[in-house]
Amino acid sequence: MKIIFATGNAGKMKEIRMILSDLDAEILSMKEAGIEMEIDEDGLTFEENALIKARAIHSCAADAIVLADDSGLEIDYLDGLPGVYSARYMGEDTPYEVKNAAIIRKLCGVPDEERGARFVSAIAAVLPDGQTLTTQGVIEGIIAYEPAGDEGFGYDPIFYVPDFHATTAELTPEQKNAVSHRGKALRAMKKKLIRYFEEYEG
Ligand code: IMP
Repeated sequence: MKIIFATGNAGKMKEIRMILSDLDAEILSMKEAGIEMEIDEDGLTFEENALIKARAIHSCAADAIVLADDSGLEIDYLDGLPGVYSARYMGEDTPYEVKNAAIIRKLCGVPDEERGARFVSAIAAVLPDGQTLTTQGVIEGIIAYEPAGDEGFGYDPIFYVPDFHATTAELTPEQKNAVSHRGKALRAMKKKLIRYFEEYEG
């Protein structure tokens, strides 16, 4: 069985290969599968966007299992923003140092209990028979008072996890994978795929 993951991001592919390595399947990026496509992510939820991407790729690779993810940061004090707009928030090309500093400024003087935030990741699968599966993973935290850490990417330096006394940019990749939204959603998807393989083979 071939699994194609709808991403061009090498970091994500590494994480996905690590988590799905014990599945009896060949795991390919879009590029490795020879698929190039611009997809409009105009859904209103992470799950909708993940399904839009997975369905679009499935139209070019109907014999494979196609996986896609969509994720972002929801900040309670900003009514859930940046949410599904996380990549586009303040402009796609604006450096994260600028976006992160702006978010910290917006929350200036806001106490811990109102700084709640979460990273959310939705994963969608389209199976060769057209059936779809979806999973979601969440990690809860608060918006930090100042950026910290050089690991990770995006909003990691301002996402503080009280249990770790650290931002997700201060965790090693292994520590982050073990608790992250994407890690949780991927492991839940792996369980669903294992069940699908068992039915398929049985
Ligand atoms: P994507 O849908 O996974 O490409 O994520 C969309 C955007 O959400 C990214 O460009 C980041 O701004 C943000 N994001 C998602 N996951 C993370 C994370 O683990 N750390 C930091 N930012 C993230």
